[in-house]
Amino acid sequence: YHVDWDLSAAEKGGFDWFMRKEIHEQPQAVADTLLGRFDADRRLTLDEVRISEAELRTIDKIVIVACGTAFYAGLVAKYAIEHWTRVPCEVEIASEFRYRDPIITGRTLVVTISQSGETADTLMAVRHAREQGAKVIAICNTNGSTIPRESDAVLYTHAGPEIGVASTKGFMTQVAACYLLGLYLAQVRGTKYGDEIATIMRELESMPAKIQKVLDAQQQVLDLAAELVDSKTVLFLGRHVGYPVALEGALKLKEIAYLHAEGFPAGELKHGPIALVEQDLPVFVIVPPQGRDQLHDKVVSNIQEVRARGARTIVLVEEGDHEVEPYADVLIRLPQASTLLQPLLATVPLQVFACELATLLGHDADQPRNLAKSVTVE
Ligand code: G6P
Repeated sequence: YHVDWDLSAAEKGGFDWFMRKEIHEQPQAVADTLLGRFDADRRLTLDEVRISEAELRTIDKIVIVACGTAFYAGLVAKYAIEHWTRVPCEVEIASEFRYRDPIITGRTLVVTISQSGETADTLMAVRHAREQGAKVIAICNTNGSTIPRESDAVLYTHAGPEIGVASTKGFMTQVAACYLLGLYLAQVRGTKYGDEIATIMRELESMPAKIQKVLDAQQQVLDLAAELVDSKTVLFLGRHVGYPVALEGALKLKEIAYLHAEGFPAGELKHGPIALVEQDLPVFVIVPPQGRDQLHDKVVSNIQEVRARGARTIVLVEEGDHEVEPYADVLIRLPQASTLLQPLLATVPLQVFACELATLLGHDADQPRNLAKSVTVE
């Protein structure tokens, strides 16, 4: 008597890839990042803090340092943190940060973002920043890993283990954790108070259900991947927080589908990228919320511009926005959310698209060639 038992299939919980499983875990993962973070006084509970609120009030610059997908989470964070705290916030690739003699003082807050907590470039950035007297907060998914151990404070993302090499729930929970940190700093520094923070928190807490709605509608994205399986290049356009989402969409395609892809700020279109547009080139466009966002109309014009030149436009846009319909070859609907939180929704179809395209092309979505889950050499 013999029972076939495939451990790895069991661990994947019925999914073909860990990556797909992890994409589907995102509603729960984001909920876990947010869970129990604010006490009765609406003070954020960081996991380990060795920085006083008095010290945080003296901060005059925030520098976010990270690699890969985590860097894009940092780019999203900059918009929220500067908006809420009014403290200048820079975002830098960890491998660039360390070696250019960056301006860091005792009043600089360095925020590192790393799923693994072991990325060598990010770790070197932590050491360098602390040597210069800066305080370092780590946003990390791996308990007890090196980066949080060497930092002054830690905000764990609590996403659970991420096995797929290309980060998905890691990214989404990093974005959520950055929002928490932004709200906390705003509160400590007095630029946002209880009620405003409670309103944003309520919207944040509504995001897991909305992420689930996006996942429930993914069949359309799977079909789209089948349609576009022969593409040689794909462009992604976005503005404001949609820009880092565009970069992340392109990175996912490079990483696991080995497909040439580029993300651009939509406003830069006429400064170069539009020259790439030719007949049937797939162009994904992330549209900011209508009415509430001044950039909406500008992005709609960008869609018209690329479509007039033959692009196949795949438009990610919130429910109820009918203005883009005439210019979209494919419409991917997103639940409504405020601009700053939209990345938690718009990223999901791009992950699903990349995972499906990799699968259709016969690639290993979990272990792409030449890449490692955590890069522990500089
Ligand atoms: C590798 C992984 C990426 C990840 C990056 C940063 O390149 O393949 O998915 O985004 O490292 O990893 P970290 O663990 O620091 O977030």
